[in-house]
Amino acid sequence: MADQTSEEDVLLAKRIISAAERHDVPALKILLKEGSANVQDPTATVATSPLHAAIAACGKAEEGKEAGDDAVKTVELLLENGGIWNDLNKEDETPGCIALRSDQKRIYEILVEAGVRAELLFSKMEELGLGGDDEVEEEDDDDDTREEQPAAKKQKVSEEDAKAIQEIVEEQVLDDVSLDNRAYLKSQLRYKPGILLDESDNAVMMDWETQIMQRHAETLIPKAGLRVMNVGHGMGIVDTAIQTHDPAEHHIIEAHPQVHQRLREQGWYDKPNVHIHEGRWQDVLPRLVEKGVVLDAIYYDTFAEDYKALKEFFSEYVVQLLDPSGKFGWYNGLGADRQICYDVYTKVAEMDLHEAGFDTEWEDIRVPAGLHGSNQWEGTRRPYWTIDVYRSPVNTFIR
Ligand SMILES: C[S@@+](CC[C@H](N)C(=O)[O-])C[C@H]1O[C@@H](n2cnc3c(N)ncnc32)[C@H](O)[C@@H]1O
Repeated sequence: MADQTSEEDVLLAKRIISAAERHDVPALKILLKEGSANVQDPTATVATSPLHAAIAACGKAEEGKEAGDDAVKTVELLLENGGIWNDLNKEDETPGCIALRSDQKRIYEILVEAGVRAELLFSKMEELGLGGDDEVEEEDDDDDTREEQPAAKKQKVSEEDAKAIQEIVEEQVLDDVSLDNRAYLKSQLRYKPGILLDESDNAVMMDWETQIMQRHAETLIPKAGLRVMNVGHGMGIVDTAIQTHDPAEHHIIEAHPQVHQRLREQGWYDKPNVHIHEGRWQDVLPRLVEKGVVLDAIYYDTFAEDYKALKEFFSEYVVQLLDPSGKFGWYNGLGADRQICYDVYTKVAEMDLHEAGFDTEWEDIRVPAGLHGSNQWEGTRRPYWTIDVYRSPVNTFIR
C-alpha cells in the first residue's frame, strides 16, 4: 500500500476508492494516471483497497446482484494498473475472499487468473535472478562486468543492513522452523496420537488425511508388482497404503532423524522390497538418477518446503526417474488455508507440469465434515487446512 501522507494524497485515495466502488471506469482511468491502484484511505474506519471496495460494492450474486460489465471492467482495470490480487484488508480478506463469499463467480475467476499470472511472473523473475533473495546485493560489490539491473528490481543494501535482515530471518525461523527446511530437519518432533508436530507446534501430518493418502496410493498404483517411491514418511500413512498394493520395489526417502528412528522401531527397514534412503531428496535423488533407477509411481509429500521445491522435484527428477507409462502424484496442500490461494497454486502447478511434459488429472475429495474448527487442531500453531475440497492430482507424461 502506498504511504498516504499529505492531504492531497488522502483526497486522491478517497476519489480512487470511491470511483472503484461506483464502478465508474472512465473516472477511474483518469484518476489512475495520478494515483495508484493500491491506495488505502487512512481515515476510513475499515481499511480497504480499491479492489476490495469495487468487489464489496457488487453485493451478493445470490440476491440477484451478479456483477455487471462495469464492475468486471473496474476490477480488470485495477488489476492492469497493479492492483494486488492477494492484498489483505483489515478483516484479513483478499479481494478474492470477498468475491467468493458473495458468490461473484465471474470476478472470482478474473482474480484467480490474475493470481496465476502474478505467480508465474514472480517465479520467472526469480529464475532470472531479478527477484526474491537475489535482490539483496552488498554495497561494496565491485563486479562491474555484470549487467546492471533496473533499480526497482535490485536493491543495494549495506553490509550492516544485510546482517540485520539476516538476523530478522533467523529470528523468524527460530520462532517457526517450518519456514526453513534445514531448520525443521534439525528440530524436535513429537509423535502424538493422530498427529505429528514439529518444534514450533506446526502439524506436520494428521490422521484426518488417511482417506486422501489411501486414494493417492490407489490412483498411482493400479496393480501389484510396480516400482514405487514415496518422499516423506511422516506418520507412515501413505507408505502403509502403498504396501497394500504389493509393490515390487518400495523406496522411501526421509530426511528427519526422528522419523528414521520411528521407521526402525516399526520394522520398516526389515520389510521385503522396502528400500529406505536416509537424507534430503535433494541429495538422494541425484544418486538414484546416476544409478539408472526407474519407477512406475512417485509420490511427494514433504514439509517446510515451498512450491519452488515441488517444481524442482518434478521438472528435474520425476522426468528422469519415472517410466514413460508411470504416474506421479503429490500432496496438493499449498495455500489450503485460503480458497483463492489454493485455486491459484493448483493452476500454476498444472501449467508448470504441462511445461515439464505432464498431463494432470484432478479428483475432488471432500475433507471430513466437522474438520474446520474442530478440537483436532488444539495445540497446533494454526490450522493449515480450512477449505472443503482436496484436489488430488495424478500426472502422466503427455503422449
Ligand atoms: C507431511 S509429512 C509426510 C506424511 C506422509 N505422507 C504420511 O502419509 O504420513 C512430511 C515428511 O517429509 C519429511 N521431509 C521434509 N523435508 C524433506 C526433504 N527435503 N527430504 C526428504 N524428506 C523430507 C519430513 O521429515 C516428514 O516426515
